[in-house]
Formats: sequence, C-alpha cells, structure tokens
Amino acid sequence: MNVPIDDSALDQIFREARTYNGYTDQPVSEQQLHAIWDLMKMGPTSANQLPARLIWCVSDEAKERLATQCADGNDDKVRSAPVSVIIGMDENFHEQLPDLFPHADAKSWFEGDLEKRKESAMRNSSLQGAYFIIAARALGLDTGPMSGFDADGVDSAFFGDTPHVTANFISTLGYGDRDSLFDRSPRPAFERFNSIA
Ligand SMILES: Cc1cc2nc3c(=O)[nH]c(=O)nc-3n(C[C@H](O)[C@H](O)[C@H](O)COP(=O)(O)O)c2cc1C
Repeated sequence: MNVPIDDSALDQIFREARTYNGYTDQPVSEQQLHAIWDLMKMGPTSANQLPARLIWCVSDEAKERLATQCADGNDDKVRSAPVSVIIGMDENFHEQLPDLFPHADAKSWFEGDLEKRKESAMRNSSLQGAYFIIAARALGLDTGPMSGFDADGVDSAFFGDTPHVTANFISTLGYGDRDSLFDRSPRPAFERFNSIA
C-alpha cells in the first residue's frame, strides 16, 4: 500500500514551490528535459490521449522567436530563462489512439467531430501542462507558466508545418532565482471554494 510522501517532498512540490520570473545561471541539460517528460507522460489523460506536443526552446534563436510573440514583461522572461517551453495541443490526437489506447477503438469516438477533439485536447493538454510543472518541481527545477502571448503568432512561428497543433500555454524552466519572486498570493482555506455533498 502507498503511504503519503514526506513533508519535504510536499514542500518542494507544493508548499514552497513558486512561479518564477527569473532564474540562476545554472544550466538545464537535455537529459533533464527527457527526465521531465518521462515523469509527466505517466499522468492520466482521457483514453491515454496524450494530446500535448511540447517544444523545448533551448537555443537563443528559438527563445527569441518565442519572445517576439509574448506580452511585454513575459518576453524578457522567455529570453533569459535557461529553457522556455511551448505546451502545444494536437487536435488530431485521435490518430495515435490505436497505439496509445489499444483496449478499445477510441479513434472512432473522435473521428468527424473536431469540436469534441478540440475540447478534449484543451482539457488533457492542460492536465499535461500541470504534470509538467509538478514533474519539474519533483526533479528540483522551477517553472514560470504564462498565457500572455499572441497565440496565432506562436502557432505560425512554431506549428506552421503542423496546423493541427496549437499553443495552449508556455512556461519558462530552470533553477529559480528567489529575488525574482513576487509576494505569495493568498491561498484560501477549504471552506471558501469547497463543499462536501
Ligand atoms: C496558465 C497560467 C498562465 C499564466 N500567465 C502568466 C503571464 O502571462 N504572465 C505572468 O507573469 N504570470 C503568469 N502566470 C503566473 C501566475 O500568476 C502564478 O502562477 C500565480 O500567481 C501563482 O504564483 P505562485 O506559484 O508563485 O504562488 C500564469 C500562470 C498560469 C498557471
């Protein structure tokens, strides 16, 4: 039987973890990007759809290409981070389901229904984006998720050859610089946003 993970792990992943606006110079290796993927891919998605398509911008050229599509303030964060990641989503994820979900003919559930696929791609790639954040934290890294960017601009700059893939959100990745943090915003107690029925 599983037991709760220890308090220091909970601090690292949740209580002490923050959204970073800047990073130290400590580099992030390609191996670490693979390690993040190897954890995040294990998180659940509907029918194992795995619709997220990630582009890890590590070169100055790719970071600049992304930064030019970002809102003021977000652009410099993208430029200066060790890695900036685009969490894209594939509205044709169903093409992969014969392989990814062999228990059933799940591809047929989505064929001919683009709206349903878009809704599912958004839901499940957002979950995968959350798994990305948690996996990075579990490996000792920090992230800075952002939605302040020109979605059409990012799509044409990065997904021009695959128009069925579009950007969901972006994130910086690295070892966070605590000097870049804003004060922590409130996190309400259970009673405010929860009920037990
Ligand atoms: C999907 C998403 C989009 C966000 N977009 C932006 C953004 O465009 N610019 C920005 O500076 N912060 C952005 N944030 C950062 C949030 O404001 C931050 O994660 C939140 O206030 C919690 O901060 P904390 O983790 O330090 O407590 C975004 C976060 C998420 C999850």
